[in-house]
Amino acid sequence: MPKILLAGGAGYIGSHTAVELLNTGYEVIVADNYSNSSSEAIRRVELLTSKSVKLYQADVRDKKALSEIFSGNKIDAVIHFAGLKAVGESVEKPIMYYRNNIDTTLSLLETMQEYGVKNIIFSSSATVYGEANPVPYLETMKRGACTNPYGWTKSMMEQIFEDAAKADKKLSVILLRYFNPIGAHESGMIGEAPQGIPNNLMPYVTQVAVGKRECLTIFGNDYPTPDGTCTRDYIHVVDLAKGHVKAIEYILDNHCMEIFNLGTGTPYSVTEIVETFERVNNVKVNHVYGARRAGDLAECYANADKALKVLGWKTEKTLEDMCRDSWNWQKNNPDGYI
Ligand code: NAD
Ligand code: UFG
Repeated sequence: MPKILLAGGAGYIGSHTAVELLNTGYEVIVADNYSNSSSEAIRRVELLTSKSVKLYQADVRDKKALSEIFSGNKIDAVIHFAGLKAVGESVEKPIMYYRNNIDTTLSLLETMQEYGVKNIIFSSSATVYGEANPVPYLETMKRGACTNPYGWTKSMMEQIFEDAAKADKKLSVILLRYFNPIGAHESGMIGEAPQGIPNNLMPYVTQVAVGKRECLTIFGNDYPTPDGTCTRDYIHVVDLAKGHVKAIEYILDNHCMEIFNLGTGTPYSVTEIVETFERVNNVKVNHVYGARRAGDLAECYANADKALKVLGWKTEKTLEDMCRDSWNWQKNNPDGYI
C-alpha cells in the first residue's frame, strides 16, 4: 500500500486523518515537533487501529531531518498539516508565524523535489476567501484580503503551491480549504487538546461544561444573521479526515492542481451550537453575550459541491454528533493527552 507522510500528523486533524488512512490500508509516517501536540496522540491512533505508525520527532523546517525521513522511506504522497494556527497569537507574533508556516512548506517542497516525490495535499483554510467574497464560498472565487497574519500565511502558501505546480509539470497539488472542524473520534480516545485558554468556540464550550472555565462569552449578538450571532460551517473532524483519504486516492490516480472546500455547506450560529450542545449532552454551558471579536466575519460557509462531484466526498455526521463527540472526548480527557 502507498506510504503517506503526515507533516504535523500528531495534531488534531492529523491524528484523525491517520486513523482513517490506516483503516483504509495506507501506511502512515508522521513527522511532528510536538509544538502543539504530543506523541501520546499517535500512541492512541495505534491503539485504535491496531496498526503501527512510523513516528519522527522532527521540525519540518529542518531539511536535514526531512532528508533522513525521505531517504529512509519511499514516500508516495505528503499531507502538510504542520503549522501554527492561533489567529490572535499570529497578530502578536507575525514573524514567528511567517517563519514557521512558510518555511515548513518550502522545506517540504524542496525535499520532495530532491527525492522525486510528486504529490502533496495542503491544509488550507476558508480564511483565504477574505472579507469581500459573498457566502457561500466557491473554489473559483479569488483569494481575498485576510484579516490576520495566520490567514496571510495560508494565502501565501497557496500561491507558493500554485507557482511550484506551474513550474514543475509533474508536481500534483491539492489545496484543501477547511471550514470549522470540531468533534472528535467517537471512541473518545483522540480529540482536540488546546494548550492554555482555547481560542476556538468548541473547546471553550467543552471546558465551561466540564467546569474548567466559568463562562463562555459569545462574541457579539448584533450581526446581520437570523439570531444576531455569527454563523460558521462546522464540520466533524472525522468527516474532514475522510475527505483527506478521498484526496489521497484522487492525487495518486490523477495529475492535478485542485482546490476543494471541505465543509458541510450548512451554517450554524454560535447560539445554536451552545443550545445543541446543552440539549444533546444534557449539560449546562454558562454563557453571556459580549462585544464582537475583532476580525470576525458575520457568516462563513462553503459551497461543498466540487468535493462531492470530483472526489465523491460529502459529510455524513450531524451537528448533534459533533456536540456529542466533543463532549465525550472532553469528559474522558479533561486535561488532554496526559
Ligand atoms: P494542530 O496544532 O493540532 O496540528 C498542527 C501540528 O503541526 C501540531 O502537531 C504541531 O506540533 C505541528 N507543527 C507545527 N509546526 C511544526 C514544525 N515546524 N515542524 C513539525 N511540526 C510542526 O492543528 P490542527 O487543527 O490539526 O490543524 C492542522 C492544519 O490545518 C494546520 O495547518 C492548520 O492551520 C490547518 N487548519 C486548521 C483549522 C482548524 O480550525 N483546526 C482550520 C483551517 C485550517
Ligand atoms: N466564539 C465565541 N466565543 C469564544 C470563541 C469563539 O463567541 O470564546 C465565536 C466566534 O466569534 C465565531 C465562532 O465562535 O463567531 C467561531 O469561532 P472560532 O474561533 O471557533 O473559529 P473562526 O471561525 O474564528 O476561525 C476558524 C479557525 C481559523 C480558520 C477559520 C476559517 O480558528 O483557523 O476558522 O477556516 F482560519
